[in-house]
Formats: sequence, structure tokens, C-alpha cells
Amino acid sequence: MGRIISIVNQKGGVGKTTTTINVGAYLAEAGKFVLIVDLDPQANATSGLGIDHRSIERGTYEAILGEVRMRDIVQHTAHETLRIAPATTALAGLNIDLVPLERREYKLYDSLLDIRNDYDYILIDCPPTLGLITLNGIVAADEILIPVQAEYYALEGLSQLLETVKLVKERLRPEIDVLGAVLTMYDKRTRLSDDVMQELYKYFPNNIFRSIIPRSVRLAEAPSFGRSIAMFDGGSKGAQAYARLAREILESDEITVLI
Ligand SMILES: Nc1ncnc2c1ncn2[C@@H]1O[C@H](COP(=O)(O)OP(=O)(O)OP(=O)(O)O)[C@@H](O)[C@H]1O
Ligand SMILES: [Mg+2]
Repeated sequence: MGRIISIVNQKGGVGKTTTTINVGAYLAEAGKFVLIVDLDPQANATSGLGIDHRSIERGTYEAILGEVRMRDIVQHTAHETLRIAPATTALAGLNIDLVPLERREYKLYDSLLDIRNDYDYILIDCPPTLGLITLNGIVAADEILIPVQAEYYALEGLSQLLETVKLVKERLRPEIDVLGAVLTMYDKRTRLSDDVMQELYKYFPNNIFRSIIPRSVRLAEAPSFGRSIAMFDGGSKGAQAYARLAREILESDEITVLI
């Protein structure tokens, strides 16, 4: 059965979408069948993979509400075995539309049931909030991957995030685990990044990924060309780092972690 990994951090701009796209691309390059689910009304994962979200009539919003099957919104990408369930701006209303519904925390989980066995990996790109959309993203996942930006204030909010995951595990989805944290936008010229790393070990004593994602202009440029870094500049440092991260994830099949 496939692994469903949600990429979560309620802090904005920490590298969630960049990590989702590029880990997805390298898992696909490794021969895995991968689906990225775009849960963010900003639709950055959708546009970053070269799909114009304004041209899409039905996306994750309709699929989560059960108006259309998830499999019917899935689109191809430039990578043979990488697919995307695209987001549209309609998603912005989902937090409110979900409120009165039964099983409102399980809507994404339910919508993935009929396709989860079609993929080796399903990666869910969550928006920068801890609202009902993200809660759906966590509940639908087997594992949570947390990108942490190598910056002074980056660790603020991590306690709240880990507490949320713990509550989900206790009350909604006992199977869920924290896969790990990955340090992003690391700049080895600044001491700050090392300080952040030391602090990060307090939150994740056993599960920080060895791969560290460097700050790289090429990683920031790739989405505007609708390409993963693997296709945009596969030899760059950022590309190599994401290739290593994907390999670690491939190797982590048996790793379980505490939260
Ligand atoms: N390693 C990196 N080096 C340089 N720029 C990066 C790197 N990772 C991400 N970026 C850039 O930083 C910005 C934020 O990254 P990204 O969109 O992946 O974060 P996010 O957590 O998904 O943001 P949001 O919370 O808005 O969804 C983007 O412009 C992206 O291109
Ligand atoms: Mg994002």
C-alpha cells in the first residue's frame, strides 16, 4: 500500500511547496508512482508543475467535497510517473464549507480512499495555516514531513504544530507519525543556521533528515518555468539535496518515530 505524506508547517514560506514538488519529482525519477495533492488555495504546487490553475474547472476543492472523484481531477506532469491533483482558488472557501459537514476532518482521507492504492507515494502540500484544510491534510496522512527554514524565528510555532499532530493521533488517526523535519534554505555562511539546527534537535531528537536543503537561486527559479529542479537544473546543489532527501524517504520505509 502507498505511503501518504503530508508536508506541513503553519509558518508561511518555509519551503513546503518546494519540498513537495522536488521530493515528488525525485521519487518519480526513482521509478515510483507519485501523486501530489495541492491543498493550498495559492495553488503553488499546481503552477510550479506547469499547470495554469485558472484553466482548471474542477480541482481538490470539488474532490474533497465529494462533487467529483479525486481520480477524475488528476493531471499529468512533465515527469512520466508524477501526477498532480491541482488546486484552484475555490479552495479558499473550503475551511468554511467544511464546518457544518459530518466527518469534516476526514473529507480528504475519504476522497483518497479510491486512489491510494494506485500510487506508491501521495504527497500533500498543505497551506500555511492550522485550519480545517490543514487538519484534513494531517488526518489523511500516514506521516508528516515538516520543513523548517534555517532562520531565527523558524522554530516558533513548532510546539503548536507537534501538539496538533499529537491530538490528531489521539483522537482522529492513531496510525499517524511524524516522519521528520527537514532544514531548508540553509546558508552555511551564517552561524544562525547552526543555531537553528541545535534548537531543532530539541524538537526532533531522532528524526531530522540528514539531507539539508541549501539556499539556492535555482530552486527559487524553477517554479516560474513550471519545472521541478530535477528538470530545470539537475546538477545544481539544490537538486542534489532534494535527490538525497527523496532517497532518505525511500529508505525510511521502516522508520517509526515518536511524537
Ligand atoms: N532552498 C531554497 N533556496 C532558495 N529559495 C527557496 C528555497 N526553497 C524555497 N525557496 C523560495 O522561497 C519561497 C517560499 O518557498 P515555498 O513556496 O516552497 O514555501 P511554502 O512553505 O510552500 O510557502 P507557503 O507557506 O506560502 O505555502 C518561494 O519563492 C521559493 O521559490
Ligand atoms: Mg506552499
